[in-house]
Amino acid sequence: MSKRVRKAVFPVAGLGTRVLPATKAVPKEMLTVVDRPVLQHAVEEAREAGIEHFVFVTGRNKAMIEDHFDMAYELEDTLQKRGKVKEYSELMADLPAAGATSFTRQQAPLGLGHAVWCARDIIGDEPFAVILPDMITLPGARKTRCLAQCLEAHEKHGGNIIAVEEVPPEDTHMYGVVSVAQDFGQTFEIGGMVEKPAKGTAPSNLIISGRYVLEPEIFKILETIEKGAGGEIQLTDGMKKLSESQKFFGVRFDGRTCDTGSKLGFLMANVHFAMERSDLGPAFKAELKKILAGL
Ligand code: UTP
Repeated sequence: MSKRVRKAVFPVAGLGTRVLPATKAVPKEMLTVVDRPVLQHAVEEAREAGIEHFVFVTGRNKAMIEDHFDMAYELEDTLQKRGKVKEYSELMADLPAAGATSFTRQQAPLGLGHAVWCARDIIGDEPFAVILPDMITLPGARKTRCLAQCLEAHEKHGGNIIAVEEVPPEDTHMYGVVSVAQDFGQTFEIGGMVEKPAKGTAPSNLIISGRYVLEPEIFKILETIEKGAGGEIQLTDGMKKLSESQKFFGVRFDGRTCDTGSKLGFLMANVHFAMERSDLGPAFKAELKKILAGL
């Protein structure tokens, strides 16, 4: 039986160049979707999946992230004095337990594989989740978000898990792509993987979509791996090497993924997440209908 997944790594050291100028002084993970930073959506997904320890790989100019997951004494005191009970209790409910967060720095943005490697000592010798926080997810018919579905697959199959989604074949060159070796329906055994394949060469239209469960042996591989696509140390290259000695399974995520790392994706995330909110959704949809009627 495989060990339970208790820790999740959130690589948040990227520069966010696709959403400039917003990310000049504000980390892209702190841009808000509806009323909370993108990163908080990702942390909520991890909490719902049962993750107990949140490991953030940050970089320079990202200190705001650490503050967001800490107490804000003056604010909390003022809310209490003003009787803003709801706001205060919501902030308290969001606060991670003492000791449940760790922060380490990736001193230079050398790639996702390098960012994950920076968390090696905090993770230790146990399987762990990786969440790319600029991809945020909403549940589908199964009512759970993406990481919970990955952890379910890990309990079932063991090994390493990668969440995937389908894209039009002409878009595959922009992503990591996997092929199917044996299909079980929602999950499948992965045959191979490639990062940003040249146009027309992708082995399928199933792209790696930002949620992983990895065995700790990945760290040894990431330590020695050469730079790959884009001159960066690629997590996909590390996983490819690990797949020579361990099994990898794909999870077709049942739900919606929004890529807040691009401008259009960020706008769409706000629309989808606002529509799903029980408090804001109805009024927001009414406004959207008015806008659409005028197009
Ligand atoms: P992205 O490639 O989407 O992030 O990496 P980026 O580099 O910030 O984006 P652009 O292209 O410049 O707009 C996916 C995730 O991996 C993290 C990013 O912060 C993001 O959450 N990352 C990427 C790191 O932590 N370190 C890196 O060296 C690269």
